[in-house]
Amino acid sequence: MTTHSSRRIAVYGAYGHTGRFVLAELRRRGFVPVACGRDATRLHELAAATGIEVRTAATDDPAALDAAFAGTAAVLHCAGPFLDTAAPVLDAALRARIHYLDVAAEQRAVVDTFARDAEAKAAGVTVLPAMAFYGGLADLMVSAALDGASDADTVDIAVALDGWHPTRGTRLTGERNHYPRTYIEHGRTCIVPDPAPVRETDFPAPFGPLETVLLPLSEAVVVPHHIACRELHSWMNLAPLRDLRDPATPAPVAADESGRSAQRFIVDVSVRRGHRACRAIAGGRDIYAVTAPLLVEALQRILDGRARGDGALAAGQAFDARDFLGALASEVITLTFEAAVPVDVASTTAR
Ligand SMILES: NC(=O)c1ccc[n+]([C@@H]2O[C@H](COP(=O)([O-])OP(=O)(O)OC[C@H]3O[C@@H](n4cnc5c(N)ncnc54)[C@H](OP(=O)(O)O)[C@@H]3O)[C@@H](O)[C@H]2O)c1
Repeated sequence: MTTHSSRRIAVYGAYGHTGRFVLAELRRRGFVPVACGRDATRLHELAAATGIEVRTAATDDPAALDAAFAGTAAVLHCAGPFLDTAAPVLDAALRARIHYLDVAAEQRAVVDTFARDAEAKAAGVTVLPAMAFYGGLADLMVSAALDGASDADTVDIAVALDGWHPTRGTRLTGERNHYPRTYIEHGRTCIVPDPAPVRETDFPAPFGPLETVLLPLSEAVVVPHHIACRELHSWMNLAPLRDLRDPATPAPVAADESGRSAQRFIVDVSVRRGHRACRAIAGGRDIYAVTAPLLVEALQRILDGRARGDGALAAGQAFDARDFLGALASEVITLTFEAAVPVDVASTTAR
């Protein structure tokens, strides 16, 4: 039996930690993954363990990438540092005229991918960078909280993790990324000062009040791609950053049969637009594992025709954000919206 190409989905970096969650999520939803990557040995081990079709292609071999993506409807790119890998994989996706989604956390990689909008439109495909825990999740929450508005006075994103056992890919991505991080103040893109500002953020239970540092990742590029923000700040608590800095912190360990670790997260988003304010709170387990349903839900919506057009898009621009988050709520994340309330703008300061 031949599988219709719209169900065949290439996963680049398939034998990585995130790639494996993505393969499982694709299969759970009835897609046929094609596992791609540069290491033939690891791919063949994966094939032997799972029965998934594998194709070997290094990022510096365009012909091999073309062969790897032939007959697929999209590539889900999970191999970072994306500063090195995004462009060649995206080039191949555009040549093949297939959709491209990645999980980049690096701001510069996402900026460079958004810059390919005209090429994506010409190819008639959707290009969706940072469709992951960092990037897409907060962007969907901001978009939902703004109820479709395309501007905001303040966007405040705060992430609490009870720890962070990083993968090799996370460590390499951090080492590779020497670009200064940006956020938005008074309508201008600014570089995070050194030392970065700290503040106490009052997270919902079980975290409570925690010291946080200004640490914008890809969300601080994805949100302003489609929402004009006068202020956009993105914070993280200090415990996971201490874990990341410590070379002795181990890689994530599975705590259940799905492979998820016991790591807990909360993403706490507050937006204000004029006199209206709204807060959205998402909670869940394992920032790597939760990236898979975010990515594959996006893929499914693109293939179903539920994305708003072609081109290089942010998650909240491509999809009905409330509907998207609602589809993941309860099973994958907990989600709460605090109703918009009139705000005394004069007395409003960052939380
Ligand atoms: N935005 C988010 O929330 C989010 C969530 C999850 C992951 N990520 C990002 O995803 C990336 C992977 O993370 P991970 O946790 O899955 O790491 P991982 O388990 O170490 O896997 C990394 C994968 O990328 C491949 N790779 C790395 N450099 C490559 C290159 N130049 N050419 C081809 N393949 C290459 C690796 O293959 P080899 O073993 O052959 O090197 C491996 O398959 C990181 O950049 C991470 O920041 C972001």
